[in-house]
Amino acid sequence: MARGFRSGGAAALALVLAAPLAGADEVIDDELVINGEIPIVTQAPAPEHVEAFSVIRSGWTFRSPETQAMEMDDFDNPAILGVEAARDDFDASLGANGESCASCHESPEDLAGVRAVYPKWDDAAGEVQTIEMQVNECVTERMGAEAWPYDASRMVNMSALMSFVSRGEIVNVAIDGPAAETWQQGKDMYYTRYGQLELSCANCHEDNYDNMIRADHLSQGMVNGFPTYRLKNTKLNSVHNRFKGCIRDTMAQTFSPGSPEFVALELYVASRGNGLSVEGPAVRN
Ligand code: HEC
Ligand code: HEC
Repeated sequence: MARGFRSGGAAALALVLAAPLAGADEVIDDELVINGEIPIVTQAPAPEHVEAFSVIRSGWTFRSPETQAMEMDDFDNPAILGVEAARDDFDASLGANGESCASCHESPEDLAGVRAVYPKWDDAAGEVQTIEMQVNECVTERMGAEAWPYDASRMVNMSALMSFVSRGEIVNVAIDGPAAETWQQGKDMYYTRYGQLELSCANCHEDNYDNMIRADHLSQGMVNGFPTYRLKNTKLNSVHNRFKGCIRDTMAQTFSPGSPEFVALELYVASRGNGLSVEGPAVRN
């Protein structure tokens, strides 16, 4: 996708954007029911703090029918392999005390609903934490083991498992109280123009969603489907990995996964999806 932007300048966006999909009056299929039993909210009224939209939409509603179908049945969803790997990890003993996640949490299903409220303020740590940070807090402080690298497949798989057990729950990330400052920082980032192309997240995902950018149907850039299995790189991708790719496409220096900047950005972007279902691990192109 990046190649299309090499001509440089903010005007480049206008050059690569095309009209909405042929047959724009095509009805959006918003009926996602996974395995015929887990209904997923893929469209919802926008939360008050998102002034640009009246309706928020999951990335799923922008994908082709073939890609959409892969998410409707776990047998067709390649992300489930990562979920299964994480289930094994959940039961495996780790670190100095020989404990597994299951020693304290019994089963992954015990953590159902957790994903829907993350990133979340943590009093003890005095900061907003993502699911990955929370998992690492257990790995290091409670199990006495080495931290898992933020973007390692082991961590992405565990994050996928945490989404999996929360599928269908309504995203409800808190943006006030002690989280407010981090949220504001994330919001400022969302509207900052990055790179030689001088493009902000909003330029693409707010001003131009539903348009075609090269071969890609631009979504609202929601994170409710994360981690996502991408057909492009045939693996599970973390939220921060996706942010990194989007910033790199504007030809800017980017931040690293797990950085405070990306934690703040994730909180803000997650809050834009308050009202959609947790849908991860989703399939995207
Ligand atoms: C020694 C016990 C122990 C072990 C082992 C442990 N945890 Fe935890 N975990 C906790 C405690 C205590 C909390 C905090 C509970 C709370 O704040 O509600 C927690 C919180 C969490 C949360 C956040 C829950 C929430 O409601 O916000 C997640 C997710 C989590 N653990 C995942 C894991 C995973 C994955 C593993 C294995 C890699 C693991 N934990 C291993 C004790 C443990
Ligand atoms: C030049 C346009 C452009 C910019 C700027 C951009 N993105 Fe993207 N982004 C894309 C495209 C294209 C995709 C893939 C199609 C889609 O899902 O929208 C994408 C996908 C995403 C997704 C995945 C959505 C899903 O459902 O899988 C997220 C999240 C996202 N972007 C967030 C961001 C954030 C945050 C920023 C700002 C740091 C940003 N993007 C900047 C073009 C852009």
